[in-house]
Amino acid sequence: MLNIALPKGRLGDKVYELLDSIGYHCRSIYEDSRKLVFENPETGVRYLLVKPSDVAIYVAHGAADVGIVGKDILEESRPDVYELLDLNIGKCRMAVAAKADYEEDTSRTLRVATKFENIAKRYYADLNRDIEIIHLNGSIELAPILGLSDVIVDIVESGNTLRENNLKVVTEFMPISARLIANKSSFKFKNQIICEMTEKLSSITAL
Ligand code: PRP
Repeated sequence: MLNIALPKGRLGDKVYELLDSIGYHCRSIYEDSRKLVFENPETGVRYLLVKPSDVAIYVAHGAADVGIVGKDILEESRPDVYELLDLNIGKCRMAVAAKADYEEDTSRTLRVATKFENIAKRYYADLNRDIEIIHLNGSIELAPILGLSDVIVDIVESGNTLRENNLKVVTEFMPISARLIANKSSFKFKNQIICEMTEKLSSITAL
């Protein structure tokens, strides 16, 4: 059995459709919305539905052989896994954003609200800019509106969340998309099936 960690939600649904289309189907996945493990002995796949930010943890620890995860999460946590393929879906950008009337004042420490603490720290370290991180877990856009931070470092996809909250993009600095990752020892011991899956996925997701 190949254990595949799928991110729960929209991205996972898209990824499952891709895998289904290249032969790794498991129809029961559509049946019970509270079940977290689905397997199909015929196709040899077992799907594990996990929180998107946990996919790399399951794969790094070998609880899943492969998984699909956003580049943002890989950059944030830098897990010890192989990154095999860019699936060219789930595309968005990591950006610095602020209130529409924001002006940079380099004489002050910049207060940065984000859930991507490591990405933000690395980005500002490269710019030699002193920052204070305010770690939030969601609704990051609220922080500058309430004066909790000067800027946010967050994902921008359509830009609607920023627009609807009167915020603007200051800089976009990292393109993001979904990646296929593999556990290092699974890649060795289940090499044939993992490479086969990677090649099939690659042929349908190429730019
Ligand atoms: C993400 C991100 C932004 C939003 C961007 O939030 O943090 O808030 O999507 O998308 P848009 O540019 O298309 O509006 P998510 O929906 O993951 O919820 P969160 O607030 O819990 O982070």
